This record gives sequence, structure tokens and C-alpha cells, in this order.
Amino acid sequence: MKALIITALVASLSFSATVDEYLNSLKQEVLKENPSFKGFDAKRGEEIFTSKHIGKKGKEISCTSCHGTNLQKSGENIFTGKVIEPLSPKANKERFTDVATIEKWMKRNFNDVYNREGTALEKGDVTTYIINQ
Ligand code: HEC
Repeated sequence: MKALIITALVASLSFSATVDEYLNSLKQEVLKENPSFKGFDAKRGEEIFTSKHIGKKGKEISCTSCHGTNLQKSGENIFTGKVIEPLSPKANKERFTDVATIEKWMKRNFNDVYNREGTALEKGDVTTYIINQ
């Protein structure tokens, strides 16, 4: 029992520490261009996550095309048909625990949907949206 509680505690700590570190580094980047920047916004993040764009292979898609609209449920990669585990850290404790992994997929997935990399502002907004789902 004790071990279980400690494991859960360590998992939640590593999640929040990683997200804090990631969001903080994005914030520093945004502040360089916009010194009056106040903070990331889940509402803008929702728009980034759900709006459709002509992306990879000229297909009109959004982040929800693969991750679905309920982020506590599994999604499916529309290009490969592979199951994608839930994106919400509330449903999947492995999410947002490693900055390199987050960065790798943000880069790849923004390219899939937007045909370009995400800006620091966009990545901060969309992360704020996802972690609250
Ligand atoms: C073509 C399908 C596809 C689209 C579209 C897509 N993703 Fe993903 N995403 C994946 C796959 C595949 C993974 C990696 C497999 C996994 O982690 O389950 C992933 C992983 C991620 C991760 C990693 C999180 C972590 O810590 O494990 C984030 C963040 C993410 N996606 C965000 C987004 C955002 C934001 C968008 C829209 C800009 C998006 N995804 C669009 C397929 C997609």
C-alpha cells in the first residue's frame, strides 16, 4: 500500500515538473517577442487542436483526426490505422513526462496538420488545453 502511494506520488510529481519545465521554456521564448505576454490560454489551444487545415498529403485534418475529441479515450492514426493511447495525462500517466518526447511529437504532428512547425505560443496554448482535458 505504502509503495503504491509513493509510486503514484512520484508519477504525479514527474508529470507536473516536466510540464512546468516545458511550459516555462516556451513562455521564455514567447516573452522574447512579446514582453507583455500574460500566459497560455486553453481556449486558444482548443481552437488549435480542433480546427482543420490542409496538412500532410494534402488532406484536410486536425489534431482530433488522430487523437479524437475525447482525450481520455484512445484515438487512431488516420494514416496508419494504429491505435493511439489517450493523450490526456488524466487518463494516461505516461503523457507529458518527457520533454524530448513531447517536442518530437509536437514537431511531427504540427507538420502533419499545419505543414509547418508550431510556434512557442501555439505549443504552450495547445499543451495547456490538452493537460486540462
Ligand atoms: C496523423 C496522426 C496524428 C495527428 C494528426 C496528430 N497526432 Fe499527436 N501523436 C500521434 C502519434 C502517432 C503519437 C505518438 C504515439 C503515442 O504517443 O501514442 C502522438 C503523440 C503526441 C504527443 C505526445 C505526448 C506525450 O507526452 O506522449 C503530443 C503532445 C501530441 N501528439 C499532440 C498533437 C497535437 C497538438 C496535434 C495537432 C497539431 C496532433 N498531436 C496531431 C499522431 C497524431
